[in-house]
Amino acid sequence: MNHSALLDVLKGRKPSRRPVWFMRQAGRYLPEYRATRGKAGSFLKLCYAPDLAKEVTLQPLRRFDVDAAIVFADILVVPQAMGLGLAFAEGEGPVVEKVSGSDRVNALRPLDEAEEVRLVCETVKAVKAELPHDIALIGFCGAPWTVASYMIGGGGEGGREVARAVAASRPEWFTVLMELVIEASAAYLVRQIDAGADVVQIFDSWAGDLPGYLQETLSGEPIAAIITKVREQRPGVPVIVFARGAGAGHKRIGEMTGAECLGVETSMRLDWARDNLSAAHAIQGNLDPLLVEAGGKALEEGVEEVARVLPMERHIFNLGHGMRPATPPEHVDRVVKILRKRDG
Ligand code: CP3
Repeated sequence: MNHSALLDVLKGRKPSRRPVWFMRQAGRYLPEYRATRGKAGSFLKLCYAPDLAKEVTLQPLRRFDVDAAIVFADILVVPQAMGLGLAFAEGEGPVVEKVSGSDRVNALRPLDEAEEVRLVCETVKAVKAELPHDIALIGFCGAPWTVASYMIGGGGEGGREVARAVAASRPEWFTVLMELVIEASAAYLVRQIDAGADVVQIFDSWAGDLPGYLQETLSGEPIAAIITKVREQRPGVPVIVFARGAGAGHKRIGEMTGAECLGVETSMRLDWARDNLSAAHAIQGNLDPLLVEAGGKALEEGVEEVARVLPMERHIFNLGHGMRPATPPEHVDRVVKILRKRDG
């Protein structure tokens, strides 16, 4: 096999096996990741050390027979590259310098000169140089709503509610902020594609916070705007949209974005997705990350249940959200082996 089963599904070709990869497949559940992060000094330093970031991107591939690598970075590279401070407090998640008015929005920088982007793209290039032809390389960014939520709310407790309140009450600068994030994200994806990404995924992790009537304007439209810009500049690169928690809203988001693939969250019924989302999209997901942590018979049945619902021509096997830090790596291997035995 010298082309990727993942790209086959995204391009509407029959794959030789059911493609699989895992969100957060590089991360704390792997002891070798923790060692490399220790060497880098911190998570953020690791993101901006191309040699080490390349290593952690490739680590899961040395253990598991997966069909894709995802560049090791974070969706918060974009706000940082636009000029906002960013820190990761150990065990507490991100702290982003907050934007709280027009002045701060107007002071944000475009991405072109950002060192952060240059370094992530160096990682992409280095990974690509070592990747076998049958493994696809996924680049990514956050969706504007999710990224703006961090830029406005800062990432802490209650921050996402603040972002929703700003979206409603301060449209004069919220809209400008969203436009700037759209512009920066499209530019960032194009740079990753030029560095070697075969596919890009847009993570709208907080789409599920939105009231239904705002899913189109705050999730679907801004994602569609990014995709339009990317397609104008680099046609033919497939896009995966993961609007986590959008529920029935995935249908409209799929129509608006025309994404080659829709990622769906764990709570989504896959048979609903199969029967209600346009057949124009492949579906990615949605094994419960808790089952992978738990292992045993429940995991085996869970894998079978997900694979049973979708034909492999239309499916990219994945989790419904990121791998949990306490997941035993052997359980991940078990998932891949079950799939290989079942679907080649
Ligand atoms: O293997 C991969 O999936 C590639 C790398 C990747 C990371 N973050 C590394 C990371 C990707 C694709 C992301 C995306 C990301 N980052 C999202 C969207 C997906 C999702 O989880 O919903 C979001 C919301 C973020 C922002 C972010 N980064 C948060 C909220 C946190 C803290 C929570 C957590 O999981 O620790 C991070 C930290 C982060 N990003 C880690 C990793 C491996 C853990 C950092 C560590 O090593 O301590």
